[in-house]
Amino acid sequence: MVKRGISDMYHMPANDLRLINMYAQQRAREQGEHTLPAPIALALGEPHFRTPEHIRSAALKTIQDEEITYGPAGGWPWLKELIAEKVKRVNGYDITAENTAITMGGTGAIQTALNAIIENGDEVLIPDPAWPQYHAQITCSGGIPVRYALSPMRGWLPDLEQLEGLVNPRTRMLIINTPANPTGRVFPQHVIAELLHFALHHDLYLLSDECYDEIVFDDKHVSPATFLTPQEFEAGNVLCVYSFSKTYAMTGWRIGYIVASKEMIRTITHVLDSDHTNISKIVQRAAAAALTGPRSDEMLAVYRSHRDLALTILQRTHHYAYTPGGTFYLLLDITPPDGLPVHARDFAYALLCERNIIVAPGTSFGHVASKYVRISLTAPVEDIAHGIEEICAFIDR
Ligand SMILES: Cc1ncc(COP(=O)(O)O)c(C=O)c1O
Repeated sequence: MVKRGISDMYHMPANDLRLINMYAQQRAREQGEHTLPAPIALALGEPHFRTPEHIRSAALKTIQDEEITYGPAGGWPWLKELIAEKVKRVNGYDITAENTAITMGGTGAIQTALNAIIENGDEVLIPDPAWPQYHAQITCSGGIPVRYALSPMRGWLPDLEQLEGLVNPRTRMLIINTPANPTGRVFPQHVIAELLHFALHHDLYLLSDECYDEIVFDDKHVSPATFLTPQEFEAGNVLCVYSFSKTYAMTGWRIGYIVASKEMIRTITHVLDSDHTNISKIVQRAAAAALTGPRSDEMLAVYRSHRDLALTILQRTHHYAYTPGGTFYLLLDITPPDGLPVHARDFAYALLCERNIIVAPGTSFGHVASKYVRISLTAPVEDIAHGIEEICAFIDR
């Protein structure tokens, strides 16, 4: 078999989300930033907040007081202990520090898991629409991404029958993501149970991306690991990925973690060791401060109020379709009133050129959302209010 990898990575097209942002920057450069007001930016999944003060202080104190040496590949034991406590408290299942490894964000956790498990030509089932990186990461590990649909007709939930039809002897892993990017959908408990059953029945690894586990408004986030006894969890099929990026506005710090069986964590730790040795102690101390420090619901309250504002505008302008239960995203159907077909990429470029608003075309996330755009609700409230009004008017023009 031909080794996948280098050539696939070289030829990988930039996704539409990256392209629209690059285009916006180029446009600002060419037209002169002083003649063109800054666009309303509703494309990126980046919290608008600064990392809380106590977290930043912990990092500074570490620089002042501690030796910054190499550290253990899977993370410092004191942070792993805190993570085990957090998983029990927030995610509701029992693990120990040996079930955890600290990674370079959720991104690093997913890539490490893929590198540990996926062999050349293995197929990995990923949602459509999904966070664009899965596709690139699977390709990078030599695997083949196979998309399963999350259809708007089913409330952006998967269809087990369709999943059954995609399994073949080369299928090795199922990736699920809830609360979900880009839909904002929080999968109900029974759907998680069915997906777990499906993965175990076909002897697949189940990689559960729970990076938005604490950004949930109405529903409760349920991890597939909660359905397993500690012994069943140690069988090793289920891996759960978490991140500090979104919960604590720490995107640039690059820290997350993976929770899996002790045996799997041993393999993953070896992969981490060969990949980047360890995450900086400064960042790990900051993460420890995030877990032990004062908890404020301010960010969550703001995201909820932004979502509610967005939904009020969508209802008033007759564009409401569903209520995202978590994350800070929603997908908006851009079909015009005459029902003529529309393509999200063309729409997003026209919106930028004519209304100076950046959104993420649904085509960034696969094929299913090609007549949708993703709106990120992390922007300042006035940008959300004005931006969504303008987008709706643009759809109806
Ligand atoms: C669904 C999903 N998973 C994982 C990540 C990775 O986040 P990070 O590497 O910052 O933890 C993101 C980031 O946007 C995401 O949306």
